[in-house]
Amino acid sequence: MKKATKWVIEDAEHKGIYWPSAELKNKAWVSDTAIYAQADKDPPAFWAKLAGEGIDWYRKWRKVYEEKPPHFKWFIGGKLNASYNCLDRHINTWRRNKAAIIWEPETTGARNRVLTYYDLYLQVNKFANVLKSLGVGKGDRVVIYLPMIPEVNIVMLACTRIGAIHSVVFSAFSHQALNDRIKSAEPKIIVTADGYYRDGQPVNLKPNVDEAVAGTNISQAIIIKETGKAIKMIKGRDLWWHELMAQADNYCEPEVMDSEDQMFILYTSGTTGKPKGVIHTTGGYMTQAYWTTKWDFDLHDEDVFWCTADIGWITGHTYNCYGPLACGATMVMYEGAPDYPQPDRWWQIVAKYGVTILYTAPTAIRMFKQYGDEWPAKHDLSTLRILGTVGEPIDRAAWMWFFEHIGGSRCPIIDTWWQTETGGILINALPGIGPHIPTVAGRSFPGIRLEVFDEAGKPLPPGENGYLVGKSPFAPGLLRGIHHDPKRYREQYFVQYGNDIYFTNDGAIKDEMGNFRLTGRVDDVIKVAGHRLTTAEVENAITSHPSVTESAVVPIPDDIKGQVPLAFAKLKAGVQPSRKLAAEIIERVDKTIGPTCRPARVLFVSDLPKTRSGKTLRRVLKNLISNQPIGNITTIANPQSIEELKKSLASEANK
Ligand code: PRX
Repeated sequence: MKKATKWVIEDAEHKGIYWPSAELKNKAWVSDTAIYAQADKDPPAFWAKLAGEGIDWYRKWRKVYEEKPPHFKWFIGGKLNASYNCLDRHINTWRRNKAAIIWEPETTGARNRVLTYYDLYLQVNKFANVLKSLGVGKGDRVVIYLPMIPEVNIVMLACTRIGAIHSVVFSAFSHQALNDRIKSAEPKIIVTADGYYRDGQPVNLKPNVDEAVAGTNISQAIIIKETGKAIKMIKGRDLWWHELMAQADNYCEPEVMDSEDQMFILYTSGTTGKPKGVIHTTGGYMTQAYWTTKWDFDLHDEDVFWCTADIGWITGHTYNCYGPLACGATMVMYEGAPDYPQPDRWWQIVAKYGVTILYTAPTAIRMFKQYGDEWPAKHDLSTLRILGTVGEPIDRAAWMWFFEHIGGSRCPIIDTWWQTETGGILINALPGIGPHIPTVAGRSFPGIRLEVFDEAGKPLPPGENGYLVGKSPFAPGLLRGIHHDPKRYREQYFVQYGNDIYFTNDGAIKDEMGNFRLTGRVDDVIKVAGHRLTTAEVENAITSHPSVTESAVVPIPDDIKGQVPLAFAKLKAGVQPSRKLAAEIIERVDKTIGPTCRPARVLFVSDLPKTRSGKTLRRVLKNLISNQPIGNITTIANPQSIEELKKSLASEANK
């Protein structure tokens, strides 16, 4: 293949600042910075134009935007269907036979699957009919517990086709985490698989489902045969996907949905131990998904787009399903472990399918960097033209490695900041505008108003570290609520600075040009390999062990995962600390939430530092563990705990 010319050049005067080349600018959908000022003059008018051009509506809205903070609505009265926008509107065009999903199985040598838009359309229609035949209708919830196989997209799109609300649960979550989400979402149906392949081994999903579903209102479980390993089918409840699909009709009329009708729920971690069901609605989410996919990644019809995120996370929802499909793009989807059977698997996939846009997480980049430069060097990565990262701040070393060794020093890296709550990307430097600066995400998307506030709610001047907030008019794709918990919606996002300011819970610094550098979460959320969890979730899992009375979890830095949880555990009187006990505690976390949340270490302590009102001072623990000054401890109720902690840490270090 012809080597692409250098698309990004380094400006010698601003070392470390990368501007798009003329070639990249010429191709880009957006290359004129004037768009920011134009959009900011009247964001609703700007978004109305985008919604009209990017999305097909059955009926146009009568009003673009309305707010009664903290509540707001977009495209009021507008009618549309998400599945129609991802499928039907493509199949009467030349895209009918275009590859929609190229699926790469983990097993090397096994056949890949390519689903054209028409294939996907047929399968989605059939499964929509299956759901209907089982009594699922508009507003009903469907839980999806599936690995990275194309059926996950089919089920999501079938749900949105009939107006059912999907709640996807990450397939590596434990049965207990699945059970919590089922109890909250109250679905009638779960769609799952017998298993999948990971690191060359089949992983069984079905036993998790059996445990998670017991005692809930789920009446039917639909099972996809993926590994073909023997599983127990429960009569009357469990149904085989292939049997249902064989009898289903080929067409299902899409449900006409209101712009503000719920589209899906996705559970994520908040400040308490209980995950919250973030609600996204149809019109605003789809508009933002479409345009951020197209502009942020500068996606064109001939591109091959690969977002490596699991569908169980918001990144998977927006950039592995709705965004690219609404754009009529070709996506790559990979089932398995990134380094199976060797650390060059991803690079092999890029070369095999000629991937042009690669969107991934800093944690993966750090892992590949550690494996060594020789692995990507074995493959022709010259088709790549744009790289993206998401999920956590990316450090300069990882950015530079990605830029040089994967992007051949010619591809812009878009460092995209957003959240489960925002539904789509809100901050990044656009590929045709730049600048791309390591550790700086960039400007907010045109028509999105973000600001950095101090503690008291005053906007901070450039260069000062504060809190990132969203201002009215709120982003079209921003969450509309928390499932069954309106109080939490308000308390989590709209009390810090009042009803009309969305609090992101992230720290940020802005520069003179309006570029944002993100400085990390300011609450008790920690990011482990880009996965979001709260200290309270892990603590609840630890204290469910009968020998533990109290626990505190703090993040510690990790070379690959960014952060990992470190657990402090106080044992019941008379129980002796032991390695066996530490292993049991870790196993508890694995079983209760999943291995992603596993503490790196468990430290046994006789007491935890507390405020007089009984709140554990995690900040003190964090400082102690990282050898930082402890800070202000005037509020501490048990100062002797600090000395004891120091002693146990010292003895731990000597072990
Ligand atoms: O702290 C920010 C971090 O991830 C959080 C959102 O996590 P989640 O809801 O799981 O969504 C992740 C994928 C959208 C944010 O509050 N975060 C996300 N992207 C970045 C980031 N931190 C720094 N830089 C980013 N690009």
